[in-house]
Amino acid sequence: MTNLTLSTAARGPIAVLLLFGSAAGCGGEGEGPLPPEPPAPAAWDFGLPAGYPKPKVPEENPMSADKVELGRRLFYDKRLSGNETQSCASCHEQKLAFTDGRPSGIGSTGEVHPRGSMSIVNVGYLSTLTWANPLMTELEEQALLPLFGETPVELGLAGKEDVLLERLRKEPIYEALFPKAFPGEADPVRISNVVRAIGAFQRTVISYRSAWDRHNYGGDAKALTDAQKRGKELFFSEKLECFHCHGGFNFSDSVEHDGSTFTETMFHNTGLYNLGGTGAYPEENRGVYEITGVSTDMGRFRAPTLRNITLTAPYMHDGSITTLSEVLDHYAAGGRTIADGPNAGVGSQNPYKSELISGFLLTEEEKADVIAFLEALTDEALLVDPRFSDPWTEDDAGGSP
Ligand code: HEC
Ligand code: HEC
Repeated sequence: MTNLTLSTAARGPIAVLLLFGSAAGCGGEGEGPLPPEPPAPAAWDFGLPAGYPKPKVPEENPMSADKVELGRRLFYDKRLSGNETQSCASCHEQKLAFTDGRPSGIGSTGEVHPRGSMSIVNVGYLSTLTWANPLMTELEEQALLPLFGETPVELGLAGKEDVLLERLRKEPIYEALFPKAFPGEADPVRISNVVRAIGAFQRTVISYRSAWDRHNYGGDAKALTDAQKRGKELFFSEKLECFHCHGGFNFSDSVEHDGSTFTETMFHNTGLYNLGGTGAYPEENRGVYEITGVSTDMGRFRAPTLRNITLTAPYMHDGSITTLSEVLDHYAAGGRTIADGPNAGVGSQNPYKSELISGFLLTEEEKADVIAFLEALTDEALLVDPRFSDPWTEDDAGGSP
């Protein structure tokens, strides 16, 4: 069901690789090859409950406390946009489980992204990043897109690599932190290290303190209400099928972790659209098809994690569903029907739809139970955890204008 023909696919990622090349090439990198990494660092303690998998850490970017701290500073630093109005956190807000509450992202120059901002919670576990790009697999590479991408402009730094590095060099906190995070480098303030540090920070943003986690990992029999327990049975039932695509500890089927033996990469058409009965999705949001051009990839998107789902409305890649109740109506109907307008069509008859989306009947009480179960995935501690919050407000360094 995931027959991706990647040979025809390279449009997006090649642009990214070129970008990485040029970005890395103009940051005053005359120092030659990287010095050898210091002796293998002690395994990073992610502080997770027993049984909760650990994220994979790439060999080229080992974890360290200084690097994570640097990454947190950068994530919240508005100097990372061309006009210094936005940081990563502008579209990934902690109080909304690192989303932005909008149907689609709005960049620093006002350009509207075709898709909605995604939670960065648990991104260290994902086998592919973003809504529908099978080739985007590394956080270090993904961060270049919002920084330097031009379709659409997000942070708007294309061609301004030196401006950014100049800004960063002037900040006393960075003057101390970059060398600590990248010891032994003659000139550590460079783009490749910016994205490494942000990647290391993002890998620490893990949700493991929801009621579900207390029930599942903490052995707390009272963590879930009766309604949540009934909802759990439905969620994991063959009638609703949710768990096939939103299963496992991360409630998603595109997951890998430290020690996992194979990587799952799955994309599904859930029958959200069926323009004119052709199976088509709206222009710019045609899922994996945008990359491969293969018709059966039309409308295929990654199943996002359902952790903290009550906080990340509106839903779906284009924010076109407002509430969880309407999401359940969509699945119960086996696809969404849009009666009129440019997107009219009967989603349940989309020829490319996953066979797992076949519809079901749910009483109002059952529906409420499923939503109650989804509420059990909300991690309140994450939303106020100082390890993930804006560091520039804690001191008066004036970093985040
Ligand atoms: C203008 C709003 C905006 C800004 C600024 C922004 N993002 Fe995003 N982010 C998005 C959108 C929209 C997506 C989905 C992109 C897609 O599917 O094409 C996304 C996706 C992601 C993902 C993938 C998550 C997943 O589940 O696969 C990560 C990681 C991420 N962003 C990190 C960052 C980082 C790091 C920065 C700063 C360097 C940043 N973002 C800046 C809007 C934004
Ligand atoms: C065939 C795989 C599949 C099944 C089965 C499935 N989903 Fe999904 N789910 C997805 C995909 C793919 C998306 C993203 C679709 C898009 O944006 O076009 C999604 C999106 C969602 C979203 C919105 C997530 C967000 O961040 O916007 C929710 C909520 C959701 N699903 C809940 C459920 C529930 C509840 C069930 C069971 C009734 C279910 N899903 C069954 C694949 C699936």
